[in-house]
Amino acid sequence: MPAVVLASSDGGPKQFEGKITTYVVICGIIAATGGLMFGYDIGISGGVTAMDDFLEKFFPDVYVKKHRAKENNYCKYDNQGLQLFTSSLYLAALVSSFFASKSCTKFGRRLTMQAASVFFLIGVVLDAAARNLAMLIIGRILLGMGVGFANQAVPLFLSEIAPVRIRGALNILFQLDVTIGILIANIVNYFASNLHPWGWRLSLGLAGVPATILCLGSFLITETPTSLIEREQTTAGLAMLKKIRGTEKVELEFQEISRACEMARHVKHPFRTLMKKHSRPQLVIAVLMQVFQQFTGINAIMFYSPVLFQTIGFKNDASLLSAVITGTVNTLSTVVSIVLVDRVGRRMLLLEACVQMFLSQAIIGILLQVNLKSNNTLHQGVAVAVVVLVCLYVSSFAWSWGPLGWLVPSEIFPLETRTAGFAFAVSSNMLFTFLIAQAFLSMLCHMRAGIFFFFAAWIVVMGLFTVFLLPETKNVPIDEMVERVWKQHWYWKGYMDKEEGKEDKVDII
Ligand code: BGC
Repeated sequence: MPAVVLASSDGGPKQFEGKITTYVVICGIIAATGGLMFGYDIGISGGVTAMDDFLEKFFPDVYVKKHRAKENNYCKYDNQGLQLFTSSLYLAALVSSFFASKSCTKFGRRLTMQAASVFFLIGVVLDAAARNLAMLIIGRILLGMGVGFANQAVPLFLSEIAPVRIRGALNILFQLDVTIGILIANIVNYFASNLHPWGWRLSLGLAGVPATILCLGSFLITETPTSLIEREQTTAGLAMLKKIRGTEKVELEFQEISRACEMARHVKHPFRTLMKKHSRPQLVIAVLMQVFQQFTGINAIMFYSPVLFQTIGFKNDASLLSAVITGTVNTLSTVVSIVLVDRVGRRMLLLEACVQMFLSQAIIGILLQVNLKSNNTLHQGVAVAVVVLVCLYVSSFAWSWGPLGWLVPSEIFPLETRTAGFAFAVSSNMLFTFLIAQAFLSMLCHMRAGIFFFFAAWIVVMGLFTVFLLPETKNVPIDEMVERVWKQHWYWKGYMDKEEGKEDKVDII
């Protein structure tokens, strides 16, 4: 692809020179496999915890409850121990993302990804070979550490190596892999559930495949020029910048990165700087993007869909069918986002999705409230309508809050608070995924269809947030966000007080 070359004017907007090289695309594809690990985990847990062999071995109480004849469908899995199995991974990821932030700054993005794959692989071995609950939970914790490290390093890596005009698209490769991971895991679970008594071991063990790809692949990719220059490997950083941009003329971008690194070097305590007033806009937005992503209710829908599909007559194949349909919609719609995000911008996708998600959730809620019988059946016509609405909902999530929940936090921080700030985004995702995973089954048991209204209300809140408080970051170089985005925003510019910035530098040095 040809280069877009525009000279910079002093202090004005700059366009960096460079091609979209095959190398940068390959690096992006390899790094994004970190998303496969995360997605596979999201997709595999639900199915494994429904397998009888697994429950009998580790959670005999749940096994007995599940097979009691008249147990309420909504409440049969409502067991805190079992929910902790799912959630322990997210807790470990939450804590480890802060260590991963340090590791990203000190040792680089690439080494952090390698560490992620090693933690993950050890976790996979422990889980697939688990003999008792302790081994199983320790394995989950290691998987969580792998996810925490990968989710911290991969989106940052992608946003930093990407040429500005395809930054959104390249970053969304991560989410594309998340969705592919979920889809594959669901298909694996379907077949593994028929393999007795070790099917669950196969399901958990195959998580080793994406981790191995990331581990080996990370030897083929580069470190980001930003991370090299930040760690004072300036010559290597410059050479790498020329290589990934496919041109010798990278002076402008090199200067910009060097300037950002220089400022970052003066900040000795990034987490403390992050708490200062001038970091508030980025921090609030990074955290809220992830909190809102979870309050779309996506994971509730993903969990709920097998029940819906069963009601339209696909008895035994319901879970496979629902996984394949929602999973495929999820993956394909993520491609839509890759194509559109750098053209129509982030805000447009988020706002369109709020309308689409709100309408589909509200209508599903009404249909279920009115039509769902206590024995959990729906008329065929209503059930088909619900399935269509679920697909409309999943598609809009997949081209908006799904990928942008990761993209936006990875591109809005200045270098001095980038890894620290992004750690808050990752940990917020993990915390709220944990809370929803922990609370969801109980909420479903008590609220039933009302759960859809609960999430629809949140969608209104996030729509208003997007309208008023989320600035557009499309086509803005990552190291120019402060000048071109935050200082121009009607509300956030109040936080960009020059004096505070200066004071901060003084007490930090
Ligand atoms: C979210 C997950 C979700 C997945 C669905 C990710 O971005 O963080 O919680 O399950 O998207 O595709």
